[in-house]
Amino acid sequence: MRRVAFINEKGGTCKTTLCVNVAAWLAASGRRVLVADLDTQGHAGKSLGVDVRGLSPTVHDLLLGRARFEEVVRPTPVPGLELLPANKTLSRFPVEAAGAPDRADRLRVALAEVPGDRYDFVLVDAPPSVSLVTENVLRAAEELVVPVALTYLALDGCAEIVDSLERLRAERGEAPRIALVVPALYRKTQLADEILEKLRERFPRELSRAVLGWSVKVDEAQSHGMTIFEYAPGSPGAGALASIAAELAERSAA
Ligand SMILES: Nc1ncnc2c1ncn2[C@@H]1O[C@H](COP(=O)(O)OP(=O)(O)O)[C@@H](O)[C@H]1O
Ligand SMILES: [Mg+2]
Repeated sequence: MRRVAFINEKGGTCKTTLCVNVAAWLAASGRRVLVADLDTQGHAGKSLGVDVRGLSPTVHDLLLGRARFEEVVRPTPVPGLELLPANKTLSRFPVEAAGAPDRADRLRVALAEVPGDRYDFVLVDAPPSVSLVTENVLRAAEELVVPVALTYLALDGCAEIVDSLERLRAERGEAPRIALVVPALYRKTQLADEILEKLRERFPRELSRAVLGWSVKVDEAQSHGMTIFEYAPGSPGAGALASIAAELAERSAA
């Protein structure tokens, strides 16, 4: 069971888009996949066509120990893909768990209780901020996919992730490793190509071969609550997302 988090402390960097579409591709290729939504916006569920508003119990109850994994996990319209849903109730978690010494380990412990043979992949969709929830995600994941929108602030976001990992490694003696850095929202401009070159220098092994270009079909798919493979399977965006998923699958967890 590979535990992979899609993380970048910036919003709008395609974390959710990559998480749900990589999950859908892996499920279509015969892997059993869980998407754990850890964002109060509940976009992972929405992107998979699950109405998460008012849903109960959610991952929030799991983190608080009020519900068991089996009570929270749900099927999705995508065969082979299950969901731990989130919605805005999750925003209360940092305050509710503030006094608990184990507050940053709740997700790790909850996932450790899932039988190891139930899923091939657990993909965690992280929130766009540094918070107790992000801390839970970093402690629960073994691998990270870091999507980087090719704007001029992109490299700052990467530097912050690398800093967080170094801090975690210093504190705990372990931290997840970066499996893939994925250039996203690419449009051919001189700036985007310069940032891409810097990423290639900084992450020579981790940078994905495929680049997710800007594509209106990818945006539309999310707003229709569908994966790109359902909405526009022949589009360039579907091709890029499939390549990125295949690249993650072929890189072993070691
Ligand atoms: N390749 C793309 N081309 C155009 N729009 C995209 C693309 N990928 C994602 N989007 C859109 O950008 C917005 C932010 O993407 P999202 O994956 O939700 O980012 P995050 O989870 O990092 O905040 C969404 O509206 C999404 O539909
Ligand atoms: Mg998101």
